[in-house]
Amino acid sequence: MTALQHVKLGAYYVVTMPEPDDFDFWRERARALVQCDVPPDRVAWVEPGGSGNLFSHGERRMPVPDRDAPQVRASRAFVTLAKNAILHTDTERFALLYRLLWRHQANPRIMEDKTDGDVRRIDELARIVRRDSHKMHAFVRFRLVEESDEEEAGEHYVAWFEPEHHILRANAGFFMRRFANMKWSILTPRGSLHWDGKVMEEGPPAQRSDAPAGDPAEDLWRKYYASTFNPSRLKIGAMLKEMPKKYWKNMPEASLIPELVAGAQARESAMVAAGEVKDEARPDTLAAIEKALGICRRCPIGELGTNAVMGEGPSDASFMIVGEQPGDQEDMQGRPFVGPAGQLLDMHLAEAGIERKSAYVTNTVKHFKYVMRGKRRLHQSPTAKEIDSCRWWVDSERALVKPKLVLALGASAARGVLGRTVSISRARGVPQMLDDGSELWITAHPSYLLRLEGPAREEQERLFTADLAAVAARLTELVA
Ligand code: URA
Repeated sequence: MTALQHVKLGAYYVVTMPEPDDFDFWRERARALVQCDVPPDRVAWVEPGGSGNLFSHGERRMPVPDRDAPQVRASRAFVTLAKNAILHTDTERFALLYRLLWRHQANPRIMEDKTDGDVRRIDELARIVRRDSHKMHAFVRFRLVEESDEEEAGEHYVAWFEPEHHILRANAGFFMRRFANMKWSILTPRGSLHWDGKVMEEGPPAQRSDAPAGDPAEDLWRKYYASTFNPSRLKIGAMLKEMPKKYWKNMPEASLIPELVAGAQARESAMVAAGEVKDEARPDTLAAIEKALGICRRCPIGELGTNAVMGEGPSDASFMIVGEQPGDQEDMQGRPFVGPAGQLLDMHLAEAGIERKSAYVTNTVKHFKYVMRGKRRLHQSPTAKEIDSCRWWVDSERALVKPKLVLALGASAARGVLGRTVSISRARGVPQMLDDGSELWITAHPSYLLRLEGPAREEQERLFTADLAAVAARLTELVA
């Protein structure tokens, strides 16, 4: 008897999913069922561990499509939505996806009909799942635990998170890229992930009590949150939406929220009067900054899954160079200015008689912002908002290194140091006094030079050389 005959005889098919988020398994079974002409009301999709008893009177084996069965059609829009929607906890999701796949065969443009109930439902499920993933990216907080086993000595970070949907496995890659160099575990009631720097392993569901409750890095995190909290922009509704209360218990900074909200008015006046964040809220060593940067989530660029690149150089350097953000090479090597822009910078520094090793070299924004073009990661400039949210770090580096002269390369760096936008052509060559008494010099960014050709490049190289020569001369005076 063929599969088609089975269906005609009223057979039911029961598909038990091996995992609640296994899109490939669902796709393979759904294709075979469509090819065997099994209508949606003849298939029961069962959650892992569930039972298909309701259908025990019917056919349970999978039908095998004929060799010449027609290809199954599915639009790209459907596949994209289905990959997210399948992660929802709605028990009807597999059947919904199958119904839509089935309906695709007669109407390949079905996904364009936004009034269709099935299309609206898959859209909704996918949107809810994307939001759950976004919350996970934003609200997972790692806590440091020390390894006791000597062989395995090293720092291990553990986070507890309660996703609403089956998103854990789908987001493993995000956390692996984002925290590639850390050893970490994410524990959830739906399962756990363990990354040792090389291999990702899945583990069983966990309980909140399996995760540690706090660590010293959180203190620094809280200080950072408090210092960036802007009472004049306080909108409690928006804040709750951005950081739902449910997640507060896992987030070190959340303990500050009631206090910060209560004191908002008073703090606003104080901030207006003082103009600045208090110095004692800052980390007290460069190592502490580096450690905190590793788990920094304030800057949206961190979502791209790049590494935070810390500044490098003598911790008491008289000269600090501030760039825009790490590029592709810097992200991979974890050091500032090691790619093409860095090579051009090194050449000009040497020409001006400045030893790069004597300078503390850092960036305004600590993560690489990019868009994918094929397999390449193309640089994107940070927005003013992104620069402003990262400013606290470069300010903290300045407060510790205490350079006498700061050289900002390009407009983003100038904004990162000054907190406002300046025009490079007007600001270059004219030192400005910063509030700690150091001098800020501004020049073009070497990447800008690299993008030019011909006479325009020659002109800009000449200006850059002149700026660095002036900086070198001033440095000699300042350190004399
Ligand atoms: N461009 C920058 O601004 N910084 C780097 O570290 C590299 C390129």
